[in-house]
Amino acid sequence: MPERIKTKVFDSASLGSKFIAEAIIDLVEERNKNNEKTVLGLATGSSPIQLYQEIVSLYKERKVSFENVITFNLDEYYPMDPKAIQSYHRFMKEHLFDHVNIPKEHINIPDGTIQMEDVAEYCEAYEDKIDSVGGIDIQILGIGRTGHIGFNEPGSGINSKTRLVTLDSKTRSDAAKQFKSEDSVPRKAITMGVGTIFKAKKIFLLAWGEQKSKIVAKAVEGKVVPKVPATYLQQHTNTTFILDHPASQDLTRISTPWLVGECEWTEALIIKAVCWLGLQLSKPVLKLTDEDYNAYGMGDLVAQSGSAYEVNLKVFRHLRDTITGWPGGKPGTQDQNRPERAKPFPKRALIFSPHPDDDVISMGGTLIRLVDQGHDVHVAYQTSGNIAVHDDDVVNKLSFLEEFSNAFDIQSGAIEKFSNEAKSFFRLKDASTNDIDSVRRIKGIIRRIEARSSCRYCGVREKNVSFLDLPFYE
Ligand code: F6R
Repeated sequence: MPERIKTKVFDSASLGSKFIAEAIIDLVEERNKNNEKTVLGLATGSSPIQLYQEIVSLYKERKVSFENVITFNLDEYYPMDPKAIQSYHRFMKEHLFDHVNIPKEHINIPDGTIQMEDVAEYCEAYEDKIDSVGGIDIQILGIGRTGHIGFNEPGSGINSKTRLVTLDSKTRSDAAKQFKSEDSVPRKAITMGVGTIFKAKKIFLLAWGEQKSKIVAKAVEGKVVPKVPATYLQQHTNTTFILDHPASQDLTRISTPWLVGECEWTEALIIKAVCWLGLQLSKPVLKLTDEDYNAYGMGDLVAQSGSAYEVNLKVFRHLRDTITGWPGGKPGTQDQNRPERAKPFPKRALIFSPHPDDDVISMGGTLIRLVDQGHDVHVAYQTSGNIAVHDDDVVNKLSFLEEFSNAFDIQSGAIEKFSNEAKSFFRLKDASTNDIDSVRRIKGIIRRIEARSSCRYCGVREKNVSFLDLPFYE
C-alpha cells in the first residue's frame, strides 16, 4: 500500500465529522473527570464546519462542560478586523464559541490587528503560550489546494514556527469567494508553523469533495517535499486523514486498486481499469494484449474472462453504447443498446441550468441537437446569477440607456436616477458590501438578456425559457 499516512474514508463528510467530534468529546470528558485541561488546535474554512456542528450537538447531548477546554486557532488573515465577515475570529464565534461554554480567556486566535513591528514578538508569545499549557492534544487541519496546512504555503520549513507569511496566489484565488474579489483578499496571514503543528499529540486532517482528491493523494502517497507542506505529516507519529469518498478518489487503492493487490472485478471496475490501461499505454481498447494486462496487475481479470480479446470487446461495446449523436433517441432504430430510447417522439426535454449560462457552457451541443432533432426543449434557469456580473457592466448598460434616450428624445429622468444611484453606490462599495437591491435587479436583468440570447441562438423558443430566481441565491 503506497499510503504513508493513516487514512480513513467515510461515506459522507457528516460521518467523518462525527467520528472526530466523538474523539474530541471523549477526550474532554476523560480530562474533565480528573479536572484536567484539554487543549485543541482548531482550523477554519469550509472543511471543519460540520465538525463544529457535530461537536456542538454532542456537547448538548452528552452535557459535557467545555470549561476546561483551551483552544488555539491555526491562523488569521493579516491585516484583519476581528469583526469583518471574513475574519476567523468571527468564523469561530459563529460556528463554535457562541455555542459551547469555553471561557473567553481560554480562546486563542492570532490577532490580525497587531502592529507590523509587534508581529514577531506576538508570534513568539503565541508559540510560548501553546507550550505553557502543555501543547496541543488534538489538532484539526484542513488542506489547501497548494498543499498548505494552516497557512504554511509551499516552501515552508518543517520546523517553522508561528509567523507572518505571504499567501500563495492559488490560496488567494480560492479565498476570493469570501472577499468578493481576489484583489481584496489580504496578501498576508499569521499562521502556526509546521513545527508548531507537529508538536500536537494527535492530528486529524479533514478533506471533503473531489476538488481535494489530487492534493490529498500527493500528501498521503507523494514524496516529502517542502513544495507540498502537507507531505510533512508523513513524518508525524499520530496523524489521520479523514476523507469522504470523493476526496479519496485519487488514492491508489481507490483509483487503481489493481496496482495494490487483488480486487473484486465488478462491471464498473472492469470498465474503469481497461480505460485506464488504454490511456496509460496510449492504445485503443481493442488493441490491448495479455501482456499489457499482466504488466499492470490485471492478469487475474484476463484469467477470469478467458482472454484479453474478450475483455477488450466487452468494454469496447460498453463504450460504444454510451455515445450517440441522438441525445433524445434515434427514431426508427433498434435502440436497446443506445443511451436513449427512440419513443416517444418528440420528447419534452427540460434542462435545468443552475446559473444562466451553465446550459450552453456544459451541454450547448446536446441542447442544439435536441432542438434540431425536433424535441420540445425547455430551459429553466434556477438562479438569477446576478453575483457574477461586474459593476462596470451595470455602468455600461445604464450609460447606453441614457445615451439611447437622449438620442431618441425619450424622457430619461428615471434612468438617470438609477444611474446616479448605482454610480454613487459603486464609489463607496468595498469587498464586504452586498449590492443594493436596484443593482442586484439590474445585474439579474443583464443575465436574463444573455440567457435569452443564447437560447435564441440554440433555437429554444422564447416561451420555453423560465427564470426561477430561487431566493437562497439572493
Ligand atoms: C484554515 C486553514 C487552511 C484551511 C485550508 C482549506 O484555518 O488553516 O489551511 O484549512 O485552506 O480550506 P477549506 O476547508 O475552506 O477548503
